[in-house]
Amino acid sequence: MNPDFPYAGKLLEFYATSGRSLPWRDHRDPYRIWVAEIMLQQTQVTTVRGYYDRFLTKFPTVCELARADVQEVRAQWQGLGYYRRAEHLHRAARIIQNDLDQHFPDTLEGWMALPGVGRSTAGAILAIGWNQRHPILDGNCKRVLARLVALDEPVNSSQGEGILWSLAALLTPERCPGNYAQAIMDLGATVCTPHAPHCPECPWRMGCRALAEGRVDQYPRKKPPRGCPKYSQVAFLVRAKDGRILMHRRPEGGLLSGLWEPLSLERQIFSLVPPGVAEVDEQLWQHWQIKCREMNPVGTVQHRFTHFHLTVWVFACHHESGWPQGDGVCWWHPGQTDLPISTLHSKVIMIKK
Ligand code: ADE
Repeated sequence: MNPDFPYAGKLLEFYATSGRSLPWRDHRDPYRIWVAEIMLQQTQVTTVRGYYDRFLTKFPTVCELARADVQEVRAQWQGLGYYRRAEHLHRAARIIQNDLDQHFPDTLEGWMALPGVGRSTAGAILAIGWNQRHPILDGNCKRVLARLVALDEPVNSSQGEGILWSLAALLTPERCPGNYAQAIMDLGATVCTPHAPHCPECPWRMGCRALAEGRVDQYPRKKPPRGCPKYSQVAFLVRAKDGRILMHRRPEGGLLSGLWEPLSLERQIFSLVPPGVAEVDEQLWQHWQIKCREMNPVGTVQHRFTHFHLTVWVFACHHESGWPQGDGVCWWHPGQTDLPISTLHSKVIMIKK
């Protein structure tokens, strides 16, 4: 790092002239800032935009969020991915409402004690909402800072992370820490991009070591990912005469907890060969005691989760007789918007339109 280079000042100038105009930047309301920061974890600004306003119209205050049923919150999250965030938000709202007397925490420890809030998110909320000086370190910041110092340690190693947190703390200014936090996120998203970064437009170009060495494309370094396991699943589009599909609700606590999906068999180790029609007919009977006719394979859907890759073999058939035992099963008309369904299972349902 160049000790004479005014990093914070340059970045705040960049924010004043080129910062993005985003809906969560118009308010100082901690609730709105918190909701935005949770939605923005691992999700791009362009995706969050549409969800944000709808979510706040539905749940304008923490009190209304706490009062809602978790299924309503999941429904608002549908398609945004990483559904655990919706549950965390809801649980945290109840804690704030019931245990904290409707007061938002104003310390790093206080925020980090709430479900779904890690160190970077807590730092961002306090910097933006309370003007407190805290560093942040999301994926965009890691890339910016790794290039700035040409960091040789992988950014996904504990050593690399340790160095980046220290650097982030060193660079964060006393003055306008909230604008600084949002500025570094904007810099990573719009200038210091993963591919083809716009270095001539960068306010930090004169202090960037990777640029000086002509090696921007070599940073951030990453440890090679561990093998991503592959699984497969079978999903059934069981149709009634009127076109409705038989859906069931996933159990609480696991993957895509509480979301609805077409009848599906739990994931198995990936096999290259799809199951045969007779086999899945039999499975449908064994698992749900229903009989169907005209069972047909209609295609596959691929989906990447954080820790594994899933291939869904999709079969379509017509319901003939029988009804699955237990609750959490219903007939559902594609196009109805009352059930929370993951992006993956929306793709499954849309497969043969
Ligand atoms: N990513 C995470 N928080 C953000 C924010 N407040 N503005 C833009 N991008 C973000």
